[in-house]
Amino acid sequence: MTEIKVAVLGASGWMGKVHTMAYQTFPHFFGCEGGTARVTALVEANKDAAKDLAFRAPGAKILQDWNAAIADPETDLIDICLPDSLHYEVAKAALLAGKHVYCEKPLADTAVEAQELANIAREKGVITRVGHAFPRNPVHDLAKEIITSGEIGEIQLFKACQHIDMYGDPLAPFMWRADGQLAPTGIVGDTGSHVFSFMEFLVGKVSSLIADNFIVTPKRPVVHGLAYGEQTVLTGTEEWRDVTNPDGTNILCRFENGARGIVDFSRVATGRKFVQTYEVYGTKGSLRYTYDEVNRLRFYTNDDRTGRRGFREIDVGPENETFRKFLPLPNFALGYNESKIIEIAEVIRSIVANRPMWPNFETGHHICQIVDACMDSSRLRQWVDIN
Ligand SMILES: NC(=O)c1ccc[n+]([C@@H]2O[C@H](COP(=O)([O-])OP(=O)(O)OC[C@H]3O[C@@H](n4cnc5c(N)ncnc54)[C@H](O)[C@@H]3O)[C@@H](O)[C@H]2O)c1
Repeated sequence: MTEIKVAVLGASGWMGKVHTMAYQTFPHFFGCEGGTARVTALVEANKDAAKDLAFRAPGAKILQDWNAAIADPETDLIDICLPDSLHYEVAKAALLAGKHVYCEKPLADTAVEAQELANIAREKGVITRVGHAFPRNPVHDLAKEIITSGEIGEIQLFKACQHIDMYGDPLAPFMWRADGQLAPTGIVGDTGSHVFSFMEFLVGKVSSLIADNFIVTPKRPVVHGLAYGEQTVLTGTEEWRDVTNPDGTNILCRFENGARGIVDFSRVATGRKFVQTYEVYGTKGSLRYTYDEVNRLRFYTNDDRTGRRGFREIDVGPENETFRKFLPLPNFALGYNESKIIEIAEVIRSIVANRPMWPNFETGHHICQIVDACMDSSRLRQWVDIN
């Protein structure tokens, strides 16, 4: 049994907590044969937030500087849960130090940076992973299996969306996600990259697109200490900061295999707490998915006889090997945190077996190319090709 020693960077944040939990949890479901993990360092810049870290991963070093984790010869894997703008710099330093790297999405701020990271990883022969965990919900294995088997024929159209109302309230406080310095591509890299990961996983590479990025609320108050969804009460003395990256985007695209796409996403969809859907229309049938029914796929086939045609609901269940690791019955719901546990089990297995798994930094680069194309297309107000 090989133990992988991990440093989690940005340990007190949302993803830092989820990843730390998942390293400790995955062997309960996946066993130890594919390797185990030990969190040996937690890196967090915010001293106050860092106070309770020692209890989360007993024995781990608590550090404030990510350079120290990378320099530590004990560390095998650098897990980057830092704000987007730090991903490139930190991932590059970790790769050059010969570490395996698991980086939250988006991999980098630009496709050029992402390409450089993918190249260094290849040269160094290390394992990489980008945190696109949503497609790892086993229900999407079923969707891919149906598509790959040809049951819905040639894909003609892929429609997808992802919407949240994190910024639906114009008084919701300013945070790094709205800062074009810390998150240069805004919602496009943040939420769009999730939708793009489904496009890569289910349909294939995007060859061209036209995008319309928009900002709905140009200024937001700076209010510290509020969590997602908490109501802002203004004192009248707040600083107001400019929102300098997109709140939302509408896209038309074409895929290399001839399919077309219609995709939209935003963080300002008032009242929509979290919407994630896709529809795949083929020449022989179609698929529909909504996160509201997180393990359910709707499947339509022209093979059904006239008068009996309609979408059937399929709940992915224990016939799927990954689902079975968690639950013996369908429709008990595998949720977000389980997708992250699946992802982290794959990261560890990938390192121990020295076998790349989807989505690695090559995939992250393709997704950054789509993000770049959205930013270029919206600025230029025209279709953009992706090479
Ligand atoms: N895969 C997903 O579903 C998913 C979901 C949410 C966020 N994310 C991604 O994960 C990353 C983190 O997002 P989050 O929501 O956890 O953010 P967050 O703000 O909750 O956490 C970021 C943490 O990093 C710390 N930090 C900032 N700069 C640092 C530095 N220089 N050194 C050490 N610590 C530092 C902050 O103090 C904070 O605790 C982002 O890239 C985001 O896009 C992915």
